[in-house]
Amino acid sequence: MARRKKLYEGKAKILYEGPEPGTLVQYFKDEATAYNAEKRATIEGKGVLNNRLSEFFMSGLNAIGVPTHFIRRLNMREQLVRQVEIIPLEVVVRNIAAGSMSKRLGIDEGTQLPRPIVEFYYKDDSLGDPLVTEEHIIAFGWASQQELDDMISLALRVNDFLSGVMLAARIRLVDFKIEIGRIWENDYPRLVVADEISPDSCRLWDIETGQKLDKDVFRRDLGNLADAYSEVARRLGVLPAANVRTSKPKLIN
Ligand code: TMP
Repeated sequence: MARRKKLYEGKAKILYEGPEPGTLVQYFKDEATAYNAEKRATIEGKGVLNNRLSEFFMSGLNAIGVPTHFIRRLNMREQLVRQVEIIPLEVVVRNIAAGSMSKRLGIDEGTQLPRPIVEFYYKDDSLGDPLVTEEHIIAFGWASQQELDDMISLALRVNDFLSGVMLAARIRLVDFKIEIGRIWENDYPRLVVADEISPDSCRLWDIETGQKLDKDVFRRDLGNLADAYSEVARRLGVLPAANVRTSKPKLIN
């Protein structure tokens, strides 16, 4: 069978033309990258886990009225999504200081922030996705003032939803990144959560032990990434860990 037309290939996903106009097929790869792709590896099973986890979070958001691009999962590695015009910003929400915020501002990792803090990074690999201000966003026309307000409110609603879901699984949502896209309806843009929501784009710490259950396991060489993601999936009831093969089958004599 002829393969669908590939429209875009990124570090962790491929986008194919969808079956209907205005739809895309999003394929989850096993590749992991960090530090602007300076560090890379293939993690068997990661794509399958992220497809299921992103389905879980996006369909949960759709169910509570937070619009997303997600339509339905098609198979182990693919989901059908709405085609959107991606706003060239990474929207990060932080509840606890970690990662680049700790480094930039000298705040110890693990410090509870006084309230959730929303940050914007301009999506440009050649610049290393720099932190930008709301002034930059408006002045350079990446989004309108109304869209900026809507992005903040969307991001905070996603934060409330994800924090609650994670808390029930005894996981602390430290921070996360989302991407937001426009869908045009009668010449008016409507904003929806796009891309993916998975442990690739969140920091997740076990509430009791502080164990990292996200991509920092790969970034900081802390163990097997697929095992960490399987643990998140298992706790959320998304799939039993046994369903995902994270290592090659072994011959038993
Ligand atoms: P940071 O502390 O490195 O700025 O990351 C903040 C959050 O955003 C963290 O959960 C990881 C996520 N993130 C991405 O998903 N993609 C990226 O390119 C970056 C820089 C961060």
